[in-house]
Amino acid sequence: MESTPLVILSTASKLQDALAGASSEHQHDEYSLDLSSLANVRLVANTINMRVADGSLPPIRALVLNAGYQEHTEQYFSEDSLDMSVQCNYLSHWLLTLMLLQSMDKQRGRILVLGSSTHDPNHPANDSVGMFKDKQWKILLHDTHGLAKGTWSSARDDSSFKAGFRRYGAGKLCEIMMMRHAERTYASWIEGFGGRRDSRAAGSSSSITADESKWGNSDNVKVCGRCSSRIFDSKSLGEMPKALYLNGTDVTQPSPEARDMVKQGMLWRDSITYANLQQGETTLSDWD
Ligand SMILES: NC(=O)c1ccc[n+]([C@@H]2O[C@H](COP(=O)([O-])OP(=O)(O)OC[C@H]3O[C@@H](n4cnc5c(N)ncnc54)[C@H](OP(=O)(O)O)[C@@H]3O)[C@@H](O)[C@H]2O)c1
Repeated sequence: MESTPLVILSTASKLQDALAGASSEHQHDEYSLDLSSLANVRLVANTINMRVADGSLPPIRALVLNAGYQEHTEQYFSEDSLDMSVQCNYLSHWLLTLMLLQSMDKQRGRILVLGSSTHDPNHPANDSVGMFKDKQWKILLHDTHGLAKGTWSSARDDSSFKAGFRRYGAGKLCEIMMMRHAERTYASWIEGFGGRRDSRAAGSSSSITADESKWGNSDNVKVCGRCSSRIFDSKSLGEMPKALYLNGTDVTQPSPEARDMVKQGMLWRDSITYANLQQGETTLSDWD
């Protein structure tokens, strides 16, 4: 029971292939999740919470927010009328995380976000594509509305593939900001106390963002494996890493915009509105 990972997947063919070749010693369970639907996120989160509560699943040791979505010249909107890049790369992960907090392993639970160097307009890895070259693109988050509704870097204003690249980067930026805001604001958010950091002693929560700018496209499962084995490396990262940011296996810092605490707070408050988070949907208190 203790060692049974729960796997949430859409079709997730690469993951299916990896699981097919996995040792039979390791058990897994699967749920399909559609990040383009907030209703589906709620359904899956509630199902998992019920199973952890009745003991048919163990508490979540690691929540790995791996799914990513990228458009090029096209631009789609979700059934929630939100920009697909921002909803799939960020808002649905935000909602899923808040709803699953109650099911996290209270002592050892960890959250891993897969970021991307595209969150940082000044990252040299973006130079070859050049989507942030023009100075109008040096800031990604002016206001949440522009990202949520897809008016920032829209396909209508820029029909090149760079527009979709930038929206993907913006989704990743939001996800990194979410982790930093939560770790800074809530004393022990994985424990679900939700006490604000200034009003309670720090507790045990732990989150890591991995930004694989060194990622090779040919062998993603293996590279992701390397990065995810690093997140359990408590010898070098410590038992309770806080808002740690990795580039590959190196500990580093995200962009200055990702570290902007005022913007992090704005994004958090607006996320409550866009996801329509209701009382009782998260064990985090003080979330509003
Ligand atoms: N590859 C890179 O160079 C690179 C670099 C930096 C960061 N990353 C990040 O690393 C993570 C994994 O990347 P990857 O290259 O392995 O990506 P990938 O092969 O394209 O896999 C993305 C996964 O996300 C799932 N997904 C997409 N839209 C979804 C939705 N609406 N609902 C549920 N699942 C959805 C896909 O499901 P389906 O199987 O159903 O399509 C797929 O399993 C992503 O977060 C990515 O942004 C990748």
